[in-house]
Amino acid sequence: MAAAVAIIIIFFLSSMAVSVAAAVVEHTFVVSQVNMTHLCKETLVTVVIGQLPGPAIEITEGDSVAVLLVNKSPYNITIHWHGVKQWLNCWADGVPMVTQRPILPNHNFTYMFNVIGHEGTLWWHAHVPFLRATLHGALIIRPRHGASSYPFPKPHREVPIIIGDWWELDLPQVGWNMKHGSFDFFASGSTINGKLGDLFNCSGKQLRNACVAEDNYVLDVEPGKTYLLRVINAGLFSELYLKIAGHKFTVVAADAHYVSP
Ligand SMILES: *[C@@H]1O[C@H](CO)[C@@H](O)[C@H](O)[C@H]1NC(C)=O
Ligand SMILES: *[C@@H]1O[C@H](CO)[C@@H](O)[C@H](O)[C@H]1NC(C)=O
Ligand SMILES: *[C@@H]1O[C@H](CO)[C@@H](O)[C@H](O)[C@H]1NC(C)=O
Ligand SMILES: *[C@@H]1O[C@H](CO)[C@@H](O)[C@H](O)[C@H]1NC(C)=O
Repeated sequence: MAAAVAIIIIFFLSSMAVSVAAAVVEHTFVVSQVNMTHLCKETLVTVVIGQLPGPAIEITEGDSVAVLLVNKSPYNITIHWHGVKQWLNCWADGVPMVTQRPILPNHNFTYMFNVIGHEGTLWWHAHVPFLRATLHGALIIRPRHGASSYPFPKPHREVPIIIGDWWELDLPQVGWNMKHGSFDFFASGSTINGKLGDLFNCSGKQLRNACVAEDNYVLDVEPGKTYLLRVINAGLFSELYLKIAGHKFTVVAADAHYVSP
């Protein structure tokens, strides 16, 4: 018992010493509504700094994160830092009415948390029903000792791949309907890094009223090199299968833990 307590105290002291030396990574997340055009149609979406997916938070293990959220949307918002262990800062994990009250329209809130003891790919998303379909982004934790400490060969490049849904419906309304027993709602398409791809007609670029194919997400690669894809499923309900035609694909980590390849 005494030994366990001693170990815990030493652990906390050492993790505090680390966080003193580490950086504070700061972001301002302005949440607002913008019109985005996909499938030949403008849809009003709620996003962070006008982007879908939202900005990536990139840190080194041991860093702290400070995010000022400025809520210019008409909705109550909280942000959940999905998978972050939240040691000693569990009040920052963004579950509305559990660890915080929602951030009301025209109000601000600053999230502050440490990221200690795990590395890899996580993500952040709104923790209010359904708005996470458009309020999300990557949270990338790099190893403290650099990419050469990966338990696999150092990749040539690292690329976030966020798979998501494109909804043309009013998401808070869909959430309300589902809460009241109505489940007949579907996304209009799947996206990779915000792009629907050329199986769909009509991107944002409409040329003289002619429908053109949507843009794809394109990743240029060099033959013989290895790329680390940081894959995130931001879809609301979709079970998605991912393959990369003509390439070998090895899973090396899941949920910010390394796995046997
Ligand atoms: C979105 O588009 C609609 C219809 O064109 C327009 O009424 C509305 O003001 C636009 N909203 C924003 C935030 O741009
Ligand atoms: C926003 O949250 C507050 C509680 O802090 C609640 O009273 C209010 O009803 C919520 N508004 C919406 C639209 O859910
Ligand atoms: C929220 O933060 C923004 C940006 O720093 C600032 O302009 C605004 O006055 C703040 N609003 C409130 C209600 O504190
Ligand atoms: C795209 O447009 C073409 C030409 O109008 C049409 O034949 C095709 O069915 C459309 N594809 C989809 C997925 O809507």
